[in-house]
Amino acid sequence: MSSSRRLVLSRSAALIGAASTGLLLPRLALAQGNKVRVGLMLPYTGAYAPLGVAIENGLRMAIDEGGGKLGGREIEWYKVDDESDPPKAVENASKLVQRDKVDVIIGTVHSGVQMGIQKVARESGVLSLIPNAGVLAATGALCAPNVFRTSFTNSQPTLALGAPMMKAGHKKAVWITWKYAAGDEAFAGFKESYTKAGGTIIKELTLPFPNVEFQALLTEIGTLKPDAVACFFAGPAAAKFMKDYAAAGLKGKIPLYGSGFLTEGVLEAAGPAADGVITTLHYADSLNTPRNNEFRLAYAKTFKSQPDVYAMQGYDTGQLLVQGAKAVKGDLNAKPALYKALESAVIDSPRGKWTMSKQHNPVQDIYLRVVENKDNKVLGVAVKALADPGTGCKMV
Ligand code: PHB
Repeated sequence: MSSSRRLVLSRSAALIGAASTGLLLPRLALAQGNKVRVGLMLPYTGAYAPLGVAIENGLRMAIDEGGGKLGGREIEWYKVDDESDPPKAVENASKLVQRDKVDVIIGTVHSGVQMGIQKVARESGVLSLIPNAGVLAATGALCAPNVFRTSFTNSQPTLALGAPMMKAGHKKAVWITWKYAAGDEAFAGFKESYTKAGGTIIKELTLPFPNVEFQALLTEIGTLKPDAVACFFAGPAAAKFMKDYAAAGLKGKIPLYGSGFLTEGVLEAAGPAADGVITTLHYADSLNTPRNNEFRLAYAKTFKSQPDVYAMQGYDTGQLLVQGAKAVKGDLNAKPALYKALESAVIDSPRGKWTMSKQHNPVQDIYLRVVENKDNKVLGVAVKALADPGTGCKMV
């Protein structure tokens, strides 16, 4: 059990004790009054568990680099494992907001779970920082002044995918993904960019999240014989998908493309099955900039593993929070000033510098990458300074 988890448990045990005796509460409240309460709602079990860990690692690294405090105040951490399970999301987010009284909720990975956080954030007004989940509504129809995303919208990477596929001469494609918001919205971006470039999508294949029984769908792809396949999968299942694709005899015959999450954090596990897979994403391991090299080195030293896009997004979430807290000298209740600082932040990210759109989502470059020897190698910038349109957002 991590020390922060223990801290949370022992603190709530203390609170229950205090409440039942009617003693101690004021002293406890006072003792903790000057710490910033940071709530993490991330997956630590389930299909996206490694993504949650990478986000937390990156986040802590940025905060440590910023001196380990927020606007001069010490931090008290609270953690919930959201299991990437949407039905539990509102209850989990409410625990952090109502029971733990966090000043900021940082989460999560899964778009369906994010919708639960969004509901709680909109109702409570608590600051919500999204370090991954790309669900469009969070910075679109359900946008809110207290919600900021440091990652992407689900359609951002795939809006850059269609043109390079057509340029490579692939005129007919099959799309395959999990049937939930992230897959659906990644498809929407792909459909827009690929059909605009002149391509035809001959079939859209789906399976429920987090199912990994790909066999029947791969057989169908073999029968359909498209020029290329494009997909959205993430986490350990993405490694399995690439391995099954190769084992089904499709690798080398039908080129595989994807929203870049397909090849993030899984290149060891996927091995040669990932070689040659082409993707688009707002990050690449091999971005040869001083900022990225310094980030990768520090992360590898600290965590004895290579950072991926999730670690980078966690890191940027930490950078944003450090900047915002500094602007209000640690008073996260100074809302107008805090939001202004977050809205105007320029994040010096390992991905390249980025800014917030009006709807609170990164305006960022999308890279074209290819897997070579367990590395996401940059081929170029597929789309420069891509802003999600933030359709339907009315900030009130
Ligand atoms: C999402 O559910 O929004 C999601 C999950 C994992 C990813 C990207 C998006 O890698």
